[in-house]
Amino acid sequence: MSQRKNKIGRGTLILSLTSFLFFLVLAIWAFSQHGTWGLYNWNHDYRRLLNIIIGLGFLVPAVALILWLLRGVVSRTWFKVGSWILNIVSVVVIVVCIGIVFYVVVPAYSLLSSTEPKLLVEPSTGIYGIPNLYVYFRTETPTVVVGAWGTGDNLQGFGDSKPVKEHLFHFTDLQPGTEYHYVIDNRMGLTFSTPPLAKTGTLVTFAVASDFHYGGSDANSDERTQILRNISEDPNVNLFFMNGDIVDLGMVNGYWSEFFSDVSENMTKPVALVLGNHDTLIGGLYHFRNYFYGADGVKIDSGNELYHRIDVGNVHFLVLEVLWGTEEFTPEQKKWLEDQLSSIPQEDWVIPISHCFYYSSGDVETGRVWADHEDTTRLISPLFEKYNVDLVISGHNHHMELLEKDGVTYVLDGVAGGNTTGPRPIKSDYSKWFYGDSRGYLEVTVKQNEAELLFKNVDGEVIQQFTVTQNTQ
Ligand SMILES: [Fe+2]
Ligand SMILES: [Fe+2]
Repeated sequence: MSQRKNKIGRGTLILSLTSFLFFLVLAIWAFSQHGTWGLYNWNHDYRRLLNIIIGLGFLVPAVALILWLLRGVVSRTWFKVGSWILNIVSVVVIVVCIGIVFYVVVPAYSLLSSTEPKLLVEPSTGIYGIPNLYVYFRTETPTVVVGAWGTGDNLQGFGDSKPVKEHLFHFTDLQPGTEYHYVIDNRMGLTFSTPPLAKTGTLVTFAVASDFHYGGSDANSDERTQILRNISEDPNVNLFFMNGDIVDLGMVNGYWSEFFSDVSENMTKPVALVLGNHDTLIGGLYHFRNYFYGADGVKIDSGNELYHRIDVGNVHFLVLEVLWGTEEFTPEQKKWLEDQLSSIPQEDWVIPISHCFYYSSGDVETGRVWADHEDTTRLISPLFEKYNVDLVISGHNHHMELLEKDGVTYVLDGVAGGNTTGPRPIKSDYSKWFYGDSRGYLEVTVKQNEAELLFKNVDGEVIQQFTVTQNTQ
């Protein structure tokens, strides 16, 4: 008779329900963040940790269920012991969840109160075929910022109309092959040259590098800064793509702070930012969006903050959100990519840029093969082949490489800050050249029918060069 009276108390029920709800909300939040599924799929060390946390979360309903099933079988004393176990597990889960809220969720939604001005490429094109540029930054207190921009003999002023904390200035409708100057609050006086778009010569010269890993313990900040300075001092370079893994952990403001001061001090070229897997971790996207697209008024002609098109005359850069693999390559992004590829004339240049690689040499790391990417080569490369894409640029694997498959040239642009890999145990069948001995970057000069690729080391010396002709297969 007494066994039938075993009942889970109201207090225990409320406690266990609260803990499970806490866990559920946090788990849904974590896995809805960009990059989390990729982390789970591609880093099996973190997968084990996440599995333990998920297991702990489901322990509460599991214990509650077992207790309920045994309510008529066990003695009152053992049932009480079981209830106490349920209480203790629930409290542990609640404490862990509160810890995660304080150490993960709160930092994920905290921003630097001020950022440094940087010259950024806007994914919109001016009337002369050159991408518009913008400067966006935040000040701690409402301030009126003024400046001027233009060509040497024709500077025009700009400024905030009232004191504000967020400052956004546009440089639009730039002329090709022209030197521009700008100054903001006497803090930055910079010069940059727009792409020549020459009919018989250079259309555009751009530099691209990946894996800066600001804040990373194994990143080399001196070499990274040296690379920025070399690119800034190169009079030929018109644009600089920072191709992902910009910071080591996207939720850490201190890492973004390092990025802002280095770039604002050492990079004078207009910068186009591409998201990497480390940038999105965890809640990193909130930082990225607020730091670079925070103000209303950044114009995106095609796509969104995460994937979009940057047109330089008839050279079309397709910035993709491909972080760890295809986890963020949604049907919408796929449709967008296919729409772009099918609408761009065959004689134009198409250059997709994404952080994650497609074909690549590599190794086995964190439980997965980091070479000839299983998912991107299956789901994205066939589109590149179908539409005769000319040159695909990526990073993620910390080395330089040039590969060719079915008419498409793939390059890995080099690691600018993170650790170097040395030789790789797995060589891709499509590899034409591989280099993993030092940090560096890639400089590309695009002409009408061919592009010259210079793989450069930290000091700007050429390691290897290639000429790539347009893909007409
Ligand atoms: Fe990286
Ligand atoms: Fe990466």
